[in-house]
Amino acid sequence: MAKAKVSVFFCKECGYESAKWLGQCPMCHEWNTFTEEPIVKKGAGHKSIAKSGVTMTAPSTLSQVSLDTRDRITSEIGEFDRVLGGGIVSGSLTLVGGDPGIGKSTLLLQVCQKLTEKGHHVLYISGEESLKQIKIRANRIGPFTDCLKLLCETSLDVIEEILQREKPEVAIIDSIQTMYREDVTAAPGSVSQVRESTNSLMQMAKGLGITIFIVGHVTKEGTVAGPRVLEHMVDTVLYFEGDRNASYRILRGVKNRFGSTNEIGVFEMRSTGLVEVLNPSEYMLSGRPADATGSVVCCTVEGTRPILVETQALICKSNFGMPRRTAAGTDYNRVNLLMAVIEKRVGIGMADYDAYVNVVGGMKVTEPALDLAVVMAIFSSYRDISVPADTIVFGEVGLSGEIRSVSQVEQRVKEAIKLGFKTCILPKSSLDLIEERDRISLIGVASVRDCYAMFRNQS
Ligand code: TYD
Ligand code: MG
Repeated sequence: MAKAKVSVFFCKECGYESAKWLGQCPMCHEWNTFTEEPIVKKGAGHKSIAKSGVTMTAPSTLSQVSLDTRDRITSEIGEFDRVLGGGIVSGSLTLVGGDPGIGKSTLLLQVCQKLTEKGHHVLYISGEESLKQIKIRANRIGPFTDCLKLLCETSLDVIEEILQREKPEVAIIDSIQTMYREDVTAAPGSVSQVRESTNSLMQMAKGLGITIFIVGHVTKEGTVAGPRVLEHMVDTVLYFEGDRNASYRILRGVKNRFGSTNEIGVFEMRSTGLVEVLNPSEYMLSGRPADATGSVVCCTVEGTRPILVETQALICKSNFGMPRRTAAGTDYNRVNLLMAVIEKRVGIGMADYDAYVNVVGGMKVTEPALDLAVVMAIFSSYRDISVPADTIVFGEVGLSGEIRSVSQVEQRVKEAIKLGFKTCILPKSSLDLIEERDRISLIGVASVRDCYAMFRNQS
């Protein structure tokens, strides 16, 4: 007789399930990410969402469903509300992911502060820190009212009981990797435990109508399951990015059932917690060298928001047969493609040159509008002629070397005008779309050749 299976293997990056151990995950293609875990008995602890009076049995029409403007609470932290799509939706489950130490606990504690100031009842459940440690952090952030309750607990069975009793409007779970359910035999932080715990929290959020925020650490090593495992279960997924050593932080929405994704919020970490950066363009451009070669400002759009970033390129003679290419803050393959376009369409022997391309400020820009800026920066460094500091550039480069139009042209130009730029180099085909012509001079380019001609004329 065949032996009953007692364990399965999970990819701790993406949660892919397999009956046997695999070296590479077929779903996310990460290597060496499989861990063995005991099988979770199906149906254990699953409760119907229909409890607590919400009947889901009869189908209803859209007009029968009533909407309430109170369904969104604003946190008064503008950047946070923006990423959520205009405020916190009641009864939603939101995941806030990010590297350890990036500021997830700080951000959520600040959200707690703003919410409790307005009289909302919030319960902050920490499985990582003691009450004293939370108090030390809270002291740095500022005064709190008594509407905020703290709890150190890791058992979800206990947490459920407390949530039922206390009925807070908002609950924070810091972090999901420390929580466990007694009926799941796997260790806290394992894929099955993290999944089942999130499932329970989902039931609590929908059943009790509590808005829940879950903190999830992104970890590369160890046996802790990453937040990607639970992305599909929650309503909203926010990732906190940024260099731990630099002070800015970017909060990015990657999934949102109640608003648009790809919105970003920009924060700066100070000694008193996170501070909103209301004008990210100014922030990203601070410290820009005047008249340096190989430096071009590009206007990219994140979600609905134009942000100016500085693009730098350094082109120098290669000492080996194989030129070095690096790209920081943008796509490496895209840079290679652009260099091939330059080689073929302009006729510069790029194969003899090393190229280092960098988007300054820690933003990762993958938008095609950056192409033209990368190309201009490469030309500028190659010819050793600087692009005037008050010039802004955007446009997509096609394989034939043509410059193609991009989205939201008008908005990009407006942002440039707002920050005092005097010249804008943009795709020729986009020229007609712009009405504001008196405050900025517009130069339309049709091909990378046109672009290169600008550098040739100057010398
Ligand atoms: P934290 O919120 O604990 O990170 P996470 O929960 O994502 O692991 O933030 C930790 C870092 O933030 C820590 O290195 C110290 C820094 N920090 C400040 O610089 N200023 C502050 O006011 C606070 C509260 C933290
Ligand atoms: Mg923390």
